[in-house]
Amino acid sequence: MASSKRVLLGITGSIAAYRSLDIARLLRQEGHDIQMVATRSALRFFPRLNGEVFTGHPVYSDLFDAMGGGVRHIELADKSQIILIAPASADFIAKLALGLADDLLSTICLAATCPIVIAPAMEEKMYFHPAIQEHLKTLRARRVQEIPPEKGPLASGKEGVGRLPSPERILEAIQPSLNVSDAWSGIRVLVSAGPTYEPIDPVRFLGNRSSGKMGYALAREALSRGAAVTLVTGPTNIPPPVGARVFQIETAREMEENMHREFPSHDLCIMAAAVGDYRISSPTISKRKKDGKDWEILLCENPDILSGLSQKKKKGQFLVGFAAETEMEIPLLIGKATHKGVDILLANDVSRSGIGFSSDNNDLTLVTPSGEVLALGHDSKQVLAGRALDEIWNRWKPTAPNQVPKHE
Ligand code: PMT
Repeated sequence: MASSKRVLLGITGSIAAYRSLDIARLLRQEGHDIQMVATRSALRFFPRLNGEVFTGHPVYSDLFDAMGGGVRHIELADKSQIILIAPASADFIAKLALGLADDLLSTICLAATCPIVIAPAMEEKMYFHPAIQEHLKTLRARRVQEIPPEKGPLASGKEGVGRLPSPERILEAIQPSLNVSDAWSGIRVLVSAGPTYEPIDPVRFLGNRSSGKMGYALAREALSRGAAVTLVTGPTNIPPPVGARVFQIETAREMEENMHREFPSHDLCIMAAAVGDYRISSPTISKRKKDGKDWEILLCENPDILSGLSQKKKKGQFLVGFAAETEMEIPLLIGKATHKGVDILLANDVSRSGIGFSSDNNDLTLVTPSGEVLALGHDSKQVLAGRALDEIWNRWKPTAPNQVPKHE
């Protein structure tokens, strides 16, 4: 279980406010201490008494009621180890970006030095309004983390982006911040995850079945060990791990550009992404019309990002690749590890059901160019991410957590 953290759960005026109770319940189950603070408009949707019963603490709302003879907003800000605002309304996001402090929650946020995470929930048109997008950009620049809303039925009855993710997904996204140790403090980890999409025209693309789950699990695991994590990710519907620098890409060439830019400033690089080996030679700018005939599409080869990185690898850097195989032939895997220039190759059999692409589980075999083979077993991707990082550590052995061999 994660070590217990003091979580301040901020609730703002959105119809999704009632779901904060489930978030509090899950956090309590994990052993965390939850202090709820609700804005006045949140209290119109949120049953305050239930919140008090669930958390065992008063649900504070009013700046002056909360004073209780002391400077309560400062006390609450100081004692919180993470502030999660879920749901975060459009109004509250604007307030946070502008630094307004006209109620208890906004005042706490201004006074806090701990990480702040927001989970916006609102109608799609409001979420994509340039004002809100601008505010979110400002907040990201201040390292406020966003758990993006999901697509689904909204309060208006319309379908769209703006739904608060499920409590389980919110918990998954903030897990690294709750669970953090300092074992890997000072280590910079670069992870690639998810699929690449190669455009055929503005509407269609060539992609693959990667969900990003394996790469995101590795990024979360590295964060929870205290590493500084950069994630370069193809399109997925997983909330970005809180605390990671995240670069969203679509094509293999965009992934290549991002990985090459980031690689020199990282100590460990893990390529879990399923990079498309081919792209469309000449994607059309306008939508290709149906013409009653078969289409011939010419493909050209994409760059091999991993091999390119291995050529730039400096002493002290450690490079890990994945291998998606339909037949796990060890001599071929050893050859692949050598040919790709990695220190470790993590192979998975993507022809087996229940593991590999999109599944929550996997079965990994570690192979090195020198011929070492180790089965990491069949387990959830999160558990395997932990085992993989342990094995990487054993073989890489940076002399001490804060003394990674210098390579810049
Ligand atoms: O995302 P999930 O749904 O969780 O699924 C996880 C996964 C199956 C995608 C993951 O476990 C995995 O196997 N990722 C690597 C998939 C892959 O592209 O395998 P490969 O054998 O084709 O490539 C070998 C290595 O070279 C990989 O590290 C890959 O990232 C890299 N590569 C491949 C092609 C290319 N053009 N450039 C690359 O860098």
